[in-house]
Amino acid sequence: MKIIHTIQELREWRKTAGTVAFVPTMGNLHAGHMALVREARERAQSVVVSIFVNRLQFGQGEDFDRYPRTLSHDASLIEHECPHAVVFAPDEKELYPHVIQQYKVEPPALQDELCGAFRPGHFRGVATVVSKLFNIVQPTVACFGKKDYQQLFILQQMVEELNMPIEVVPVDTGRAGDGLALSSRNSYLSETERAEAPRLYHHLTRMRDAIASGERDFARLAEETIEDLVRHGWVVDYVETRNARTLKPAVHTDHALVILLAARIGSTRLIDNIEIQC
Ligand code: PAJ
Repeated sequence: MKIIHTIQELREWRKTAGTVAFVPTMGNLHAGHMALVREARERAQSVVVSIFVNRLQFGQGEDFDRYPRTLSHDASLIEHECPHAVVFAPDEKELYPHVIQQYKVEPPALQDELCGAFRPGHFRGVATVVSKLFNIVQPTVACFGKKDYQQLFILQQMVEELNMPIEVVPVDTGRAGDGLALSSRNSYLSETERAEAPRLYHHLTRMRDAIASGERDFARLAEETIEDLVRHGWVVDYVETRNARTLKPAVHTDHALVILLAARIGSTRLIDNIEIQC
């Protein structure tokens, strides 16, 4: 496995890499990320995993400064899963040499809904850095997790509307045995918070089962979830049922749905979602 820190070196390497499957990350890797790496391994001659904590997608007061930076640990996980992978780990000056990124990629109105309503500018920061990384890595295929469903949707739309010659591959959410979606932010949880955290997935499966058996009062299901979470100490940002294909609010006649939620326990904000065919 090779670690590359500069754009110039990456571009040199790219000339002879053949087809490239790309996994963009912010590091502090876990088994969820590794499923993306395994998917990438099957899809192209070469694999690039980028590790870059992107300041542009963090809001004021968010966890940019305390986001765990664990490059050598990350590199050994990647080495184990995909020995021929290239790790692209630029520093901030390399990706943002002018301090302020003047040209930004502006996603449509969906960027202000769901997570975007609570993290203004977040998806602009994501779309901008992913575009830059795409221009640098020039991948054939790019793998993203369904764990970040809204991000995946926005990036799929970006690739399509901006005619980027890249196949976006969605990868299922990796979970701990008790259902909690794996996330770099789980490391912020105290022992008691960690024990409480699977409640999110519990409610997603409860709502899914109710909808699959014919329930269509999405608002009432969400209310029940919110009430129970609040009772157990959570601050809930949103619980919403949407059309899985359009991410528009669900209507009774939809057959492909996704329930998305975000909630905070202590100082940690967790997100999760579940798809439903009905
Ligand atoms: P990060 O949170 O590190 O996630 C990197 C990729 O791993 C994303 O595609 C995310 O959806 C996926 N992922 C995270 N946890 C997962 C899980 N439990 N199961 C499956 N996939 C999972 O998402 C970002 O970084 C950034 O926004 C990025 C796209 C790199 C742009 O900075």
